[in-house]
Amino acid sequence: MITENRIDQDKIPYRTLYSGERIPGVGLGTFGSDKYGPEQVAEAVYGAVRYGYRLIDCASVYQNEDRIGEVLGRIMAEGTAKRRELFVTSKVWNDMHGEGKVAESCEKSLRDLGLDYLDLYFVHWPFPNYHAPGCAGDSRNPDSRPFSAEEFMTAWRQCEELVDRGLVRHIGMSNMTIPKLEAVLPLCRIQPAALEMELHPSFQQPELFDYAVSRSILPIGYCPIGSPSRPERDRTAEDVADTALPAVLAAARAHGVHPAVVCLKWAAQRGQVPIPFSVKAPQYISNLKCVTEDPLTAEEMEAIRREDRDCRLIKGQVFLWEGARGWEDLWDPEGVIVK
Ligand SMILES: NC(=O)c1ccc[n+]([C@@H]2O[C@H](COP(=O)([O-])OP(=O)(O)OC[C@H]3O[C@@H](n4cnc5c(N)ncnc54)[C@H](OP(=O)(O)O)[C@@H]3O)[C@@H](O)[C@H]2O)c1
Repeated sequence: MITENRIDQDKIPYRTLYSGERIPGVGLGTFGSDKYGPEQVAEAVYGAVRYGYRLIDCASVYQNEDRIGEVLGRIMAEGTAKRRELFVTSKVWNDMHGEGKVAESCEKSLRDLGLDYLDLYFVHWPFPNYHAPGCAGDSRNPDSRPFSAEEFMTAWRQCEELVDRGLVRHIGMSNMTIPKLEAVLPLCRIQPAALEMELHPSFQQPELFDYAVSRSILPIGYCPIGSPSRPERDRTAEDVADTALPAVLAAARAHGVHPAVVCLKWAAQRGQVPIPFSVKAPQYISNLKCVTEDPLTAEEMEAIRREDRDCRLIKGQVFLWEGARGWEDLWDPEGVIVK
């Protein structure tokens, strides 16, 4: 069973944050993509930690932190992992950026997760644009507006206060671009420890990746397998399936593994922390085990590097404002100036 085959922590590649603290090199995602309910996700967290996962990527908007909290309590009571051995993240959602709201959101996440601190707390998206859960992809909230460094810093300063209060150990940003980082990094009192960003073989974001690494900001890669179960609203005809890319398939054949596993080996070897989602034990087991054995060769890494197609899957179109030209406007295309 799972416990008998559990992975030793010393086999898992850990990374070091700018603070000197360590973070596991692979984590478990917890967004059920409108397909898997809180119960299933929480059971996966339980099984995954028993197997050897220590990094769990949560968010208030995933609407399952209370159930995950119950299993984290069980895990600690049973002695599977102590609190200090776990690395738990959460994120403040777009409708909670206003003055006083970030602490309210963080405190709720802490209550739901049954923890007295988080290891890393992210600003989930860099604007307060809100869409109702399940709304159509082309709907526009009249309150939505373009990125503003000043508005972002309202949320970030509150995150810094959470560090001061000991409620969170590190703070991070997500869904950023280089121009947005250039605008806000000089204003930060506490630097981001990590940048959660979409990263998979067909969307490698090399410039943003290098920019983050050069500033001691650890890239955490979401949708590392290309999110094959993502909601309908996040699918377009142009999207590429990472698990069907020729270099991924060739490496999968050579190593006798599923192409999904190749995406994760590539991610871990490149230096980002992938956070694959799965509620299926055989999948989440192989997703952790794969980074402890049989690495990709330098040639395979290079062949996958060349598969980059600049194929962004999570376009964020529901966060657009009235008058925006298209989802590209969220990601600073030429002609859009970020202030
Ligand atoms: N910061 C952000 O804005 C943001 C945005 C998106 C996601 N995230 C985080 O990133 C996590 C991961 O992203 P994601 O869930 O969208 O995408 P993903 O991890 O790339 O894809 C997950 C899906 O891949 C399949 N899969 C997983 N392991 C597999 C294996 N070993 N073999 C074959 N198929 C496998 C499963 O599909 P089936 O279920 O069909 O088997 C699973 O549902 C999320 O859960 C969330 O924590 C953050």
